[in-house]
Amino acid sequence: MRVLIVSGSLRSNSLNGTLADWIAAVAEDEGRSTELETVVVDRLTLADVSAPNYDYDVEVASGLPPGPRRLADALEQADAVIICSPEYNASMPGALKNVIDWVSRLRPQPFAGQRGLLASASPSLIGGNRGLWALRVPLESLGMHVHPTMYSLSRANEQINDPRFLDSGTGQRLRALVHHFLLEAHHLRNLQVAHR
Ligand SMILES: Cc1cc2nc3c(=O)[nH]c(=O)nc-3n(C[C@H](O)[C@H](O)[C@H](O)COP(=O)(O)O)c2cc1C
Repeated sequence: MRVLIVSGSLRSNSLNGTLADWIAAVAEDEGRSTELETVVVDRLTLADVSAPNYDYDVEVASGLPPGPRRLADALEQADAVIICSPEYNASMPGALKNVIDWVSRLRPQPFAGQRGLLASASPSLIGGNRGLWALRVPLESLGMHVHPTMYSLSRANEQINDPRFLDSGTGQRLRALVHHFLLEAHHLRNLQVAHR
């Protein structure tokens, strides 16, 4: 099973990048310990896939820029996608929405039918959860099966660099969620392939 993990921050030392590291470790463990076949994790950051602001004229003249093209290719390869995104002003980062807009222009549209889990980390008490509700809207509108439960880590700056993070209560909750998501994504993917 190929799992694409995208961190939606441009900065180095990103809390969401570190959350993505933990999720990658959990996903690889899942591949060793459950009925899933081996889990192969592909990683991308927003820096890998970002692009100038969407502009129809640019699209007509030169097509998709390299960053969104890279995300679209990775989506095509993936059986499941996990996005770790910061919350900016109670919504998603504009740069992330811009990449989604670019990728949505391709046909077949790469988010359609894809299986997704959303996660966030923030120093705040809400943990960036409002940003994930905003992020769900374009992804669901594009036909992604977004997992009903989302993971938001509050006071992430105090917890996420602890080497025993996964043993904490919030870390165990992350493990359980990734476990359920990957199993569901695995079965949904097989169902979709069988009914193609
Ligand atoms: C423009 C901007 C707006 C922000 N708005 C919020 C917000 O609404 N809620 C929140 O929890 N944190 C907010 N933050 C703080 C981010 O959660 C914090 O910078 C976090 O570290 C960003 O994620 P990253 O570490 O992965 O880059 C905001 C930060 C910036 C730069």
